Amino acid sequence: MCGIVGYIGERQAYPIVIKGLKRLEYRGYDSAGVTLYNNGKITLVKKQGKVVELEKAAENLDTTGVIGLGHTRWATHGEPNDVNSHPHASNSEDLVLIHNGIIENYASIKKALIARGYVFHSDTDTEVLVNLIEDVKKQENVSLGKAVRKALTQVVGAYAIAVFDKNRPNEVVVAKLGSPLAIGIGKDNSEFFVASDASPFIEFTKDAIYLEDEEMAVIRRGRDIKVRSIIDDEVVDPYIQELQLDIEQIEKGGYDHFMIKEIHEQPTAITDTLRGHLLPEEGNIYLSGISDNIDRFKNANRIIMVGCGTSWHAGLVGEYLFEDLARIPVEVEYGSEFRYRNPIITEKDIVIAVSQSGETADTLAAIKMAKSKGAFVYGVCNVVGSTIARESDAGTYTHAGPEIGVASTKAFTTQVTVLAMMAMKLGKENGSISESRYNSLLRELEAIPAKVELALESDALIKEIAAVYKDSPNFLYLGRGYNFPSALEGALKLKEISYIHAEGYPAAEMKHGPIALIDESMPVVVIATKEGHYEKIVSNIQEIKSRKGKIIAVVHEGDEVIREIADYVIEIPHTTEELTTIMSTIPLQLLSYHIAILRGCNVDQPRNLAKSVTVE
Ligand code: AGP
Repeated sequence: MCGIVGYIGERQAYPIVIKGLKRLEYRGYDSAGVTLYNNGKITLVKKQGKVVELEKAAENLDTTGVIGLGHTRWATHGEPNDVNSHPHASNSEDLVLIHNGIIENYASIKKALIARGYVFHSDTDTEVLVNLIEDVKKQENVSLGKAVRKALTQVVGAYAIAVFDKNRPNEVVVAKLGSPLAIGIGKDNSEFFVASDASPFIEFTKDAIYLEDEEMAVIRRGRDIKVRSIIDDEVVDPYIQELQLDIEQIEKGGYDHFMIKEIHEQPTAITDTLRGHLLPEEGNIYLSGISDNIDRFKNANRIIMVGCGTSWHAGLVGEYLFEDLARIPVEVEYGSEFRYRNPIITEKDIVIAVSQSGETADTLAAIKMAKSKGAFVYGVCNVVGSTIARESDAGTYTHAGPEIGVASTKAFTTQVTVLAMMAMKLGKENGSISESRYNSLLRELEAIPAKVELALESDALIKEIAAVYKDSPNFLYLGRGYNFPSALEGALKLKEISYIHAEGYPAAEMKHGPIALIDESMPVVVIATKEGHYEKIVSNIQEIKSRKGKIIAVVHEGDEVIREIADYVIEIPHTTEELTTIMSTIPLQLLSYHIAILRGCNVDQPRNLAKSVTVE
């Protein structure tokens, strides 16, 4: 996700836009840019890196002007560099546009525009959009507002945009679908602010309009704001609300911490990760990283998943998925071990590097070592243009957006989402899953974001459970099959933000030692969903109960058996066994969050930890 800021009014725009971009940097910080209009002249400056780099680049430029648009980027298409930074100008340089979102069908639009003589300087979908608007404007000889509306009816994807035409310097046109866009309204319409959230303008005005999806607005300096429907051009009477939030709350989307915000962002993050790849109506999954290397995957001796921490847990889910669906042998390696144990690697090995930051030193070193021995490396990263992504031979990005909380949440579920798509696609290519199982998995994966939304509704119950067990010195987390990695991940979450010792185990392993730990002071979180060895996990629970252990069970909604024997039951929606990890991890994230808060811990920046471990 990116941050957009716009100003049109009576004050100097530059300081307002720059300060606003700094407040939005939590949304992305790969690059930043600003465009200013002053008496017929447009100044446009943009720079890779944080906003402070942009300020340095603008130091000796004329930054006067009462109209300005600014952008801080989280790269989705095109590496983070100066030319791919926003704002983007049209070929005529009359139009300038900033965009937060993803234009899925940009490639076909770009091809048509090139055929009509347009040239492109960047790799972005956004530059395509600004030239599409210019093309419509010229072809149909209409106003900017009409051109924007008609252009957007040709676009598939998500956007929050602001666009400016230097030939009509007293207006800015904005539009929204899928990405947030707030409009701040100054006194007597003397000035207007546009932003991804209200943090850039809350100090100037508390009166705001939040556009709804498929809405656009023509904002005219010192005059008015006209909101219309993009679909049918109907005038909309917007609701002007008086904001009560403070800056910090706004940056966290109204949540108390980035971690809880990111836990609740997971339905959107998974939807964004699926977007453009999962097409159930076509019965297909598009992953160019796989398609372009399909023979290599078909002929691979084995796949080696490499990662650290949570990403290693995602790799473990990947092992279950790839072996179950694609019948390709898989090993899972910690980056730190793999890089030093002199493993046997051949050209017929594929290494899948899983990393949110794309900068983890041990994972990076491991894939460099593997490449030096001839392996093919596939990256599953969340940061476009990150070192691991660039070191990989191919890959698929998660689109979780920036994950600010040190504890990985939406990164994990989107990593598993990508690995599931990869395994399903390879299973179909290899003929190792039937057409009906493939299509049923497609439809189930499509339904996951809505099911995650439902799983999040257990938040209040989980907060109660957290209050009961927040002072326990130790926890055990148990799961079987696909839920074993969830158990490991749940234990890690609790450890790293509440500082309680917790261990994840395969449930059947209890009798090989850990059951000696069980007594009335030991809470045991058991993931006991219907799929995967249900009867056996019920026996495990009874073994624990008979030793006075306390059971917090994650079960499928409607489960009446475990409700009878557990101390607490958290229900999650049914899904297929292959996708159960995504669902079962949600209550475990919430449990660790609430226990940590009740223990007074800093959940966003836990002690001793860093978001990205770029050292050994
Ligand atoms: C997980 O909550 C931690 N933040 C940590 O284990 C993390 O997953 C690990 O350091 C790997 O980071 P990466 O995904 O950026 O490579």
